[in-house]
Amino acid sequence: MNKILILFAHPAFKRSTINAALRDGIEGEDGITIHDLYGAYPDFFIDVDYEQRLCEAHDIIIFQHPFYWYSTPAILKEWLDLVLEHGWAYGSQGNALAGKYTLQAITAGGDGASYRTGGTNGHTIGELISPYRATASLCGMHWLPPFVVLGVHRGLPGVIVNGHVERYRQAIIALRDGRVNYQEAARHEYLNSNLKAIIREP
Ligand SMILES: Cc1cc2nc3c(=O)[nH]c(=O)nc-3n(C[C@H](O)[C@H](O)[C@H](O)COP(=O)(O)O)c2cc1C
Repeated sequence: MNKILILFAHPAFKRSTINAALRDGIEGEDGITIHDLYGAYPDFFIDVDYEQRLCEAHDIIIFQHPFYWYSTPAILKEWLDLVLEHGWAYGSQGNALAGKYTLQAITAGGDGASYRTGGTNGHTIGELISPYRATASLCGMHWLPPFVVLGVHRGLPGVIVNGHVERYRQAIIALRDGRVNYQEAARHEYLNSNLKAIIREP
């Protein structure tokens, strides 16, 4: 069983709809640690030793957040800047994260058509999150495509939200239980483009 760490970043969690729903769907599951960064560090004073021990104790690290200005809420950048130290995360002696898997779980206001070359956002989600991919690579981690929920601005109907919650839950449980075909997953734009193609049934 893989141990999963979810680094959850939402600066206005009380007003969250979709991230709160996605998080509720996996809360309390065995082997899954949900670490709320804004809850733990409202003043941004990140406990680097604690975060590093937490990462060491898990096999898969997931950054879950709303898309803010084509990127992450600010605390995730602070987390990367402080926690991924030379000699721990990278450099000739820095291999604490090597071999672990990582991905982002992103919710975004824009829809699928807008995240295309020539669309209103001009770039794909994959292009916009390339710093995370490069960071994972530098740290010797295996990067997986993001789990993505798009079109949130339109106000998603409950039935659609429930579908995303269920698919997020399926994906996280399958990652935990070692039922994700990583090679197949790497061929898809999003982890949830076609979950059936990448997850083996229990
Ligand atoms: C400060 C801020 C910046 C945002 N930037 C983007 C963006 O760059 N692209 C996008 O598609 N949506 C953007 N949004 C919309 C959020 O991604 C959307 O409200 C969020 O995913 C909804 O999730 P929640 O219900 O958990 O809050 C932004 C929202 C805020 C408040």
